[in-house]
Amino acid sequence: MSSSFGTLFRVATFGESHGVGVGAVVDGCPPNLALCEADIQLQLDRRRPGQSDLTTPRQEADRVTILSGVEHGRTLGTPIGLLVRNQDQRPGDYREMDAVPRPSHADYTYQLKYGVRASSGGGRSSARETIGRVAAGAIAEKVLFERWGVEIIAWVSSVGEVESAAIAAEGLTRAQVDGNPVRCPDPAAAERMTALVREVRDAKDSIGGVISCACRNVPPGWGEPVFDKLEAKLAQAMLSLPATKGFEIGSGFAGTRLRGSRHNDPFVKKGERLGTLTNHAGGVLGGISNGEPLLFRVAFKPVATIGQPQQTVDLAGNPVELAAKGRHDPCVVPRAVPIVETMAALVLLDLALRQQVRNG
Ligand SMILES: Cc1cc2nc3c(=O)[nH]c(=O)nc-3n(C[C@H](O)[C@H](O)[C@H](O)COP(=O)(O)O)c2cc1C
Repeated sequence: MSSSFGTLFRVATFGESHGVGVGAVVDGCPPNLALCEADIQLQLDRRRPGQSDLTTPRQEADRVTILSGVEHGRTLGTPIGLLVRNQDQRPGDYREMDAVPRPSHADYTYQLKYGVRASSGGGRSSARETIGRVAAGAIAEKVLFERWGVEIIAWVSSVGEVESAAIAAEGLTRAQVDGNPVRCPDPAAAERMTALVREVRDAKDSIGGVISCACRNVPPGWGEPVFDKLEAKLAQAMLSLPATKGFEIGSGFAGTRLRGSRHNDPFVKKGERLGTLTNHAGGVLGGISNGEPLLFRVAFKPVATIGQPQQTVDLAGNPVELAAKGRHDPCVVPRAVPIVETMAALVLLDLALRQQVRNG
């Protein structure tokens, strides 16, 4: 099924951006986990629109309701239904775009594939679909932390050409990441990124960026070679997010410029087991976690919907000038930070449960 993800911790998302609501059904959550709506709301609040002048002004509280699977604050082991109602729909903003597919958005391909599409705001290609993933992933994060002490932290490492200084993932906190609206823990770079996003927004344009993510305390042994290798599942998870254009693990593309003699991560004794001196591998060898922090990066494009007039054609091929109304993010990376974290949690918990089955 195209809207579900995971083998043992299975998540199906539902909903369109301007419909009644969006959400997820989580099947396979372990029973007896303490869980309430506030646990899930934390990450939804970090994802929601209108958090600062750098994001879309669409006003959505994005309050989650747990519909099923939890009683007296404990999971029952049965499917958990999660619903967030849409509030600030303005389908009128999109009327002009009914006949004009937005350049570089999904309007045209949805129309070609299904022969019909949600009448406004991109339907399921809108980033509102990610609400279901974030809600489900917040549950996965809780299980991962309580059972294994796994901590997942993402941050914005570049916006356009502005790059942050190297960030040490060890000890980095979400409070530090959230210390500025652009979610970059390098304050000097954050200031330049903020200025750039404002400049782009005022020019009715958009700009892309990169999110870095570290997963700490991941035990060795997670990942299912050969097709469900850890990095393959992470890449699938990240590239299933709207507006993503690239995924790198460890040394990534830059590693191709090194020689093996510099790129190899020598083993060293770390407590009871072996660790590595460096981490060019990004915490994965042969598709299996090696006990070092997982380190990966995700590239997001400048989003398609911009207020500047663009020359394009309507569905019949007639030339038109399109200037989007709607309310849009000039740069999505600050809001995508919790989305990357929670998608990583969905991957890790599913692989953790699969390893648990293998270990009996
Ligand atoms: C947090 C977030 C917010 C987004 N907001 C917008 C937006 O305001 N306008 C827009 O055109 N695309 C936005 N997108 C991206 C589109 O949903 C995406 O580009 C579109 O579905 C086409 O898919 P593709 O870019 O993956 O090919 C957003 C993506 C994310 C992750």
